[in-house]
Amino acid sequence: MFNDDVRKKDVKTPTIVGEVWHNGEFIRWDDARVHVMSHVLHYGSSVFEGIRCYKTKRGPAVFRLREHIQRLLNSAKIYRMEHPWTLDELCDATVHLVARGGLQQCYVRPIMFRSLDEERPAFGVNPFPNPMACYIGAWDWGKYLGDAAIEQGVDVCVSSWNRLTPNSMPAMAKAGANYMNSQLIKMEAITNGYAEGIALDDRGYVSEGSGENIFLIHEGKVITPPLASSILPGITRDSVIEICRALEIPLVESSIQRAALYVADELFFSGTAAEITPIRSVDRIPVGVGSRGPVTERIQKAFFEITSGEREAPGDWLTFVGEHKPAQAENNGHRAPKGDEMKKAASTASASDTRDAIHVTLTE
Ligand SMILES: Cc1ncc(COP(=O)(O)O)c(C=O)c1O
Repeated sequence: MFNDDVRKKDVKTPTIVGEVWHNGEFIRWDDARVHVMSHVLHYGSSVFEGIRCYKTKRGPAVFRLREHIQRLLNSAKIYRMEHPWTLDELCDATVHLVARGGLQQCYVRPIMFRSLDEERPAFGVNPFPNPMACYIGAWDWGKYLGDAAIEQGVDVCVSSWNRLTPNSMPAMAKAGANYMNSQLIKMEAITNGYAEGIALDDRGYVSEGSGENIFLIHEGKVITPPLASSILPGITRDSVIEICRALEIPLVESSIQRAALYVADELFFSGTAAEITPIRSVDRIPVGVGSRGPVTERIQKAFFEITSGEREAPGDWLTFVGEHKPAQAENNGHRAPKGDEMKKAASTASASDTRDAIHVTLTE
């Protein structure tokens, strides 16, 4: 019924950085392993990030590093994860990993999760007895929705699966468990021959793709669902909003009916992995003229000029790896913090690093 190759296809993974940052130290990729009875494997107790590092004339530059790490800390706070890692330490660790990996461009994956204390194992749902672990890995990742997608756009469907409801699983936390919902959306889409699925929220309004936020263009105005539509507060989404402001393109955050997708002039996805990917059809109905539209192209062009360092960003968006000054001098050696330090840091980390609202309003 469907081609098995399509189901097994992933984007090309040509190079993986041979080291992984773990709890303050760099270890070999091959040594980055967990026990099969770890809490995270059974109960989905992880939070993570996806960050891109772009090739620029000034060397590799990590895109919106602090905002990503801040969102990681916020996700951890929502799930009551007490941990010793600070914003500065994780930012420094990410930059050092990229520098040590020697890649000009890559995708960085920090992950924090509930692990297993092998001397005092705990197997219940209650996560509190399980120790926290933190790893950061990196690899060179191609275009998430395929090489041609950026120009030609993708064919998508509206999923029969709804996005998470706000009072069941908070979509604003980037938690591993949320991606079981994303997998249902993605598997249904690819099984039916689409590149991606768009999920509606529990009220029937447009929410987001399985791993992307969505933007609609109607009569020159850009519209995107608000946080209240159970979306992840995407950092690329925020970048698009800022780019629209800079380009003086009108933008509103508003609930979107499913039918509006079919009559939109243009649609595109935004996300770290997908970057800015035009959508050329929804449920086999062509969007606009059925190819990338002019407003999408303008925003996409500005986005790629910013990420490649050719155009000034609306904010301090690029961390140049070769020029980065570590914020935490005492942590440069990346030793693992110990006992009391962990506890002390945990209280300060959760109090100060998660205090600031991330780059978007949380009350939309
Ligand atoms: C469900 C979901 N929505 C939206 C996004 C886009 O977020 P960002 O632009 O921060 O990568 C992602 C990717 O992280 C995602 O997984």
